[in-house]
Amino acid sequence: GIVVSSLLKSTSMVTVDPGFMNTASCESQITYIDGDAGILRYRGYPIDQLAEKSSFLEVAYLLIHGELPTADELSAFEARVNRHTLVPEGFRTFMGTFPVKAHPMAVMASAINALSTFYPESLNPFDDDTVELATVLLLAKARTITSYLHRRRHGEPLLYPDYSRGYVEDFLRMTFSAPYHSYDVDPTVVDALDKLLILHADHEQNCSTSTVRVVGSSHANLYASVAAGINALSGPLHGGANESVLQMLTAISENGGDPKQFMERVKNKEDGVRLMGFGHRVYKNYDPRAAIVKESAHAVLATLGQQDELLDIAMELEEIALNDDYFISRKLYPNVDFYTGLIYKAMGFEPAMFTPLFALGRMPGWIAQWREMMKDPQTKIGRPRQIYTGATERNYVDLANRP
Ligand code: ACO
Repeated sequence: GIVVSSLLKSTSMVTVDPGFMNTASCESQITYIDGDAGILRYRGYPIDQLAEKSSFLEVAYLLIHGELPTADELSAFEARVNRHTLVPEGFRTFMGTFPVKAHPMAVMASAINALSTFYPESLNPFDDDTVELATVLLLAKARTITSYLHRRRHGEPLLYPDYSRGYVEDFLRMTFSAPYHSYDVDPTVVDALDKLLILHADHEQNCSTSTVRVVGSSHANLYASVAAGINALSGPLHGGANESVLQMLTAISENGGDPKQFMERVKNKEDGVRLMGFGHRVYKNYDPRAAIVKESAHAVLATLGQQDELLDIAMELEEIALNDDYFISRKLYPNVDFYTGLIYKAMGFEPAMFTPLFALGRMPGWIAQWREMMKDPQTKIGRPRQIYTGATERNYVDLANRP
């Protein structure tokens, strides 16, 4: 817990800090994490209170604008996001041109990036109204894009939004309605997805958010910056972990369902195998989000009348880890991703859709961080230094003279 607020101006002194383990890239007022105590707060509000009492768009407003909205501000914000849910015909066609089995994260990053070409009037990063327009457009289109990412894999058309419904409820309806059939959205499922999106909404300077800030620091527009964040999120050590967790649980199940045997492989670091969904750069305690997700997993499965053997395997893995010295000594606990995939699966999403759902949830955080950075007088273009370890000066050798 050290806070140093001095700007290193000298060009002769350089620090090396692989992975930025000890380097703060900025000051921020958005999200507070105490990794040792397992605390997470958005703008000062504890994550468990927000997950229990708030809604995703309200949390988005809080992260982006700094304060909880009044009732009028919230309904105006919700209505404005709702109004922008449709995407242009050309944009839909563009998303439809990717191979059906393309990974949805790649399609999503491309689609978010392409938004700038369809909305050139929303690109000026220094005009407040324009930035607010881009914010609303991103939140609205991200929902439509994510819904279509699911549908296009099943050869189904994108559905029109129903403006009378809430953000999450209509997202589920647009995603899972069969053509020409209405879909009854279960309130427990809506509530669970709302919670999951809230839990993912921001996590200070993680890999994707740092990416958004670095890209934005060159004054690239919001869509370009967020698209870069989506690509960072796609890696299995970051957002891709939720998909990897389900693959891991499925593999354990298919190999006879012996979690103990799998854990021996993890501890022996066989083929670099890791217990996916465990460990975190900042949390050296139980991730407070994981506790909420675990509870939610049980609620959703019970409501949908489903039993999932993979949930039993997950709980057994956790039980082993919490009592095993390998994990205790390294302070490895479940992170937010350990149980999320099981909920998404119960809702009807396939593993490839898990990380896009993470991206949908993280959208407000990326936007809030980008906006904070653009207003911060301390911001400079992100440009780390290096320690050069290559060849010293040498003379060019003509092709004919090379060995
Ligand atoms: N399973 C087994 N061992 C692990 C795990 C794991 N999941 N995570 C860390 N370790 C071990 C490492 O092997 C290392 O052991 P050593 O000291 O014997 O070499 C030690 O714990 C420290 O690990 P690092 O990789 O140095 O920790 P770092 O902070 O760099 O990594 C990370 C954090 C990437 C999240 C890591 O814990 C991991 O790979 N976890 C699995 C992937 C995952 O769940 N990612 C999601 C992160 S949360 C998110 O993106 C929302």
